[in-house]
Amino acid sequence: MNQPSANKLPHVTTRRMLDMKQRGEKIAMLTAYDYTMARILDRSGVDAILVGDSASNVFAGHNTTLPMTVDEMIYHAKAVVRGVHAETRRAMVVVDMPFMSYQLSSEDAVRNAGKIMKEHECDAVKMEGGKVIAEAVKRITDIGIPVMGHLGLMPQSIYKYGSYKVRAMEDEEARQLLEDAKIIEESGAFAIVLEKIPSKLAGEVSRSLTIPTIGIGAGPECDGQVLVINDMLGLSNEFRPRFVRRYADLSSVIEQAVKNYVIDVRSNSFPSEEESY
Ligand code: KIV
Repeated sequence: MNQPSANKLPHVTTRRMLDMKQRGEKIAMLTAYDYTMARILDRSGVDAILVGDSASNVFAGHNTTLPMTVDEMIYHAKAVVRGVHAETRRAMVVVDMPFMSYQLSSEDAVRNAGKIMKEHECDAVKMEGGKVIAEAVKRITDIGIPVMGHLGLMPQSIYKYGSYKVRAMEDEEARQLLEDAKIIEESGAFAIVLEKIPSKLAGEVSRSLTIPTIGIGAGPECDGQVLVINDMLGLSNEFRPRFVRRYADLSSVIEQAVKNYVIDVRSNSFPSEEESY
């Protein structure tokens, strides 16, 4: 990470995220998977960019996040980091550790987290799970790699749940989630994503932790929010859960632009003389 120069905004660090929580400033995070989008997000002022394994769904067209590999995550992460470096270098870049890159053993988890950090200049990794991954989180943070946790709906466990329904509606699962959040904090995580859980529970978790919570479908009491960029820009029409606010309808904009291009090519009105050499 370069030192901030006079004309550049300071890079968002784990320390800064903690300060933001203490000051009551909300953290704005979005996903990105490529250079062009990362440039736009960084210059638009997001605090953090998540190179999510949701790339498996929205970029590669798989049904789940499970097929994603460490090398594929590194490919996306490198492009995103290049994008942030081409702009203000302000946003923190967090990279998802994909399914089976940390569940086998703590040694494996450390090796893969190290590989993700070493191959490009990202700031942190994200891991799904509670108590079962606590040892791996501790070992990774002990060697200096910041970890963001992820609780609630954990897409890498979708075959265990059998659906993408709201999690922790029952008291026992809610109690377990609160306990897991505290364990992940004690293991050294600097923030935790809470996905698709009741707002009241997310508020309780957020107040019980020193580190910030970042919600997705977890209501307004979290310390920050994250959305998948393709969803909030309206790039896909099929996936419209109630927690996604659509800030644009880019799918229609792109469709209309492409239709106009096809008409222009077929009618020979593109390219014009001015567009030719
Ligand atoms: O992979 C992803 O995009 C995520 C977000 C849904 C938080 O984990």
